[in-house]
Amino acid sequence: MPDLFDILAPADPATEIMAEGAMLLRGAALPFEKDLLAALGQITSQSPFRHMVTPGGFTMSVAMTNCGTAGWITDRTGYRYDRNDPETGRPWPAMPECFLDLAVEAATPAGYPDFRPDACLINRYEPGARLSLHQDRNERDFANPIVSVSLGLPATFQFGGLKRNDPVKKYALRHGDVAVWGGPSRLFYHGVPELKDGVHETVGRMRINLTFRGAL
Ligand code: SIN
Ligand code: FE2
Repeated sequence: MPDLFDILAPADPATEIMAEGAMLLRGAALPFEKDLLAALGQITSQSPFRHMVTPGGFTMSVAMTNCGTAGWITDRTGYRYDRNDPETGRPWPAMPECFLDLAVEAATPAGYPDFRPDACLINRYEPGARLSLHQDRNERDFANPIVSVSLGLPATFQFGGLKRNDPVKKYALRHGDVAVWGGPSRLFYHGVPELKDGVHETVGRMRINLTFRGAL
């Protein structure tokens, strides 16, 4: 007879539970790798990576761009989503089909089968870049999870709780790993400490992170 753990735990050994509503799907993006990197080249040729400025006046070490109906931006006036890229004055590049397919394929086993993202923030970490602990809370409806895809150099992912000073768990994220958080952990603090130097064989001297959101 299966015990309680067998019933509650996913059978796939490549899946780790980070918190209630939060899962790590090891290698889930690997089958999409070629398509994702090709689509990324298309996106950044239209809306290049740029270092945005926080409301407090700091230039972020992570370079960002977006695709989808809306994109996340920050400047001296605040954090928000906008349908247009402020650098080009044009709409953000459309969400490629392979991006959408991966987001849905990852959200489903994590418990969010109805997730259909309208925004994807694309983060580029070069060695030394970091993202301090924060909540993702500029989205309209927190019923949507966050689906976060890692490509390229490995990084440490810090995943805490609802309060900034809650203890954080650390996860080593590698090329192809996908983290999904929603429900009770949708507003959990998370961050990425300084990226270590290295060269990834297909992505190069950087880590790329795609975070899918229901923004509007
Ligand atoms: C983010 O919180 O926007 C990015 C997280 C990550 O790079 O893994
Ligand atoms: Fe975030």
